[in-house]
Amino acid sequence: NIIQWFPGHMAKARREATEKMHLVDVVIELVDARIPESSRNPMINEIVGNKPRIIALNKSDLADSEVTNLWLDYYESQNIPAVAIDSQHNKGLRKLQQRIQAIMADYFEKQKERGVKPRAIRLMILGIPNVGKSTLINRFVGKNQAQTGNKPGVTKAQRWLKINKDFELLDTPGILWPKFEDPNVGTKLGITGAIKDTLLYMDDLALFLLAYYQENHVDILVNRYNVTQDDVLNNTPVDLLIKITEKMNLRDDYEAASQRIIFDYRKNNLGSVTLDKVEQVTNE
Ligand code: G4P
Repeated sequence: NIIQWFPGHMAKARREATEKMHLVDVVIELVDARIPESSRNPMINEIVGNKPRIIALNKSDLADSEVTNLWLDYYESQNIPAVAIDSQHNKGLRKLQQRIQAIMADYFEKQKERGVKPRAIRLMILGIPNVGKSTLINRFVGKNQAQTGNKPGVTKAQRWLKINKDFELLDTPGILWPKFEDPNVGTKLGITGAIKDTLLYMDDLALFLLAYYQENHVDILVNRYNVTQDDVLNNTPVDLLIKITEKMNLRDDYEAASQRIIFDYRKNNLGSVTLDKVEQVTNE
């Protein structure tokens, strides 16, 4: 699942997404609810253009639900409909469909006035690697894998997957590149697993996470790693990592300790904590 993004790949991804855009009614921009802004593609607005869009904050089971609500409010305030979903456990998908129907209601009403029969709404999913695009497609389609609109003999035909009588979905999601500019964004993508481990230093990720928890979630570190409140509050992240490494009986293997901390975050052993704050974008 490692994708190395070179300029050629980015141009191709953009071209493929843009080419499919005219086929669909609504784009689902899929992001990771733990890092809603950091997991967006930097050119998403240009790529989607005027096409109706909804942001789905996936993996909401792993995020702080209060912060998720703040993000939903923020996107709605930007006139982008947004919903929280959990594709893994099939949560929020009905609401996602309802919001999409609401987006298309005016259009279909006008069509009806012209005597055009309503048809299924056509969707495509766009997002950076690992945000859960395939999982969402599988949830949507389930065992109902019947495809519609295949043209026999045309190898590169787009295939439509039938979700139900109201929706069809393009069978391949648009895979877009992540943001590279901001090192903090890269670190958050690494922590959540969007960028694969081989490209990143585990201790950099762990130190970032420790600093964030020292600032925002002291008790979680105290409970998980058997350190005191004083250890958490009155140490630099480096010294705290040294302490936690000792507590893990890993001597001076900071790399191994860092790996455990990152895995703990990914497995939700460090609480449901969102790493992007709305203030980041509203203060700009
Ligand atoms: P992609 O197509 O966008 O690349 O993502 P994909 O569906 O493959 O999902 C990436 C990982 O995220 C998978 O874990 C998947 O199970 C998990 N995932 C997707 N949606 C959700 C969700 O709503 N909640 C939770 N908790 N997990 C979700 P994986 O197979 O274990 O992959 P990995 O952990 O090895 O990357």
